[in-house]
Amino acid sequence: MTDDLDRLKTEYADRARHLAGSDIYSMLNPANLFIIHSRQRAMVNALRIHGMTNLTQSRIMELGCGAGGVLAELMSLGARPHHLFGVDVLPDRLFGAQAATGLWNLACADGRSLPYTFQGFDLVLQFTVFSSVLDDAVKAHLAEEMLRVAHPNGLILWYDFWLNPTNPQTRGIRPAEIKRLFPECIFAFQKITLAPPIARRVVPVSWGLAYWLESLRIFNSHYLVAIRPKGE
Ligand SMILES: C[S@@+](CC[C@H](N)C(=O)[O-])C[C@H]1O[C@@H](n2cnc3c(N)ncnc32)[C@H](O)[C@@H]1O
Repeated sequence: MTDDLDRLKTEYADRARHLAGSDIYSMLNPANLFIIHSRQRAMVNALRIHGMTNLTQSRIMELGCGAGGVLAELMSLGARPHHLFGVDVLPDRLFGAQAATGLWNLACADGRSLPYTFQGFDLVLQFTVFSSVLDDAVKAHLAEEMLRVAHPNGLILWYDFWLNPTNPQTRGIRPAEIKRLFPECIFAFQKITLAPPIARRVVPVSWGLAYWLESLRIFNSHYLVAIRPKGE
């Protein structure tokens, strides 16, 4: 992992340099707003199907929380700060997450060894972490840990892309691999997110056209997957 971690740190430092001054991941960027809104609709759909219509009592953990964008979204959906936990391996990301969310339950740790003996999170999330990991053994460990800390009747939410031909530092993950990573679980896949390069061109011209293209699903780059452990 040390090698992969070093690679990851270099990769994120490069991305930060490359994106300095850019607003592509800002909610004030219409294409990004479009992408986040569509993901939120899919998330709400997945949560409701699994009976999670109220998050105030839910204990939630995000592996690879980065700068806290998803944790903030969960608070906007009603999750309570004292029940929200985030883990990331990069300290500067966690400082950003703390500043953005005000949350304190943030841990700097490798997701292969989550710092929780607690095994009862109602919701465990990973959003675009696995696609940054190139080592299959590391991915398997991360998935094992997510399963370990999830309540047997809880839910794991996966959001990641299945194809990204432009960045060799990432690898898209398809449904068959997701199924292998979480053996004996039950899966519900939603193919979402109009591929960001397309969204960035279309959304400023027409939100309606972007919605229509996304509804076709052939240009969608990510899967949101609801993963249910075997249960008790
Ligand atoms: C693309 S960012 C996504 C951040 C956040 N989930 C979001 O969607 O905004 C991926 C994050 O995963 C973290 N990460 C990658 N490998 C990790 C590992 N083994 N343990 C913990 N965090 C990891 C990275 O440091 C990075 O902050």
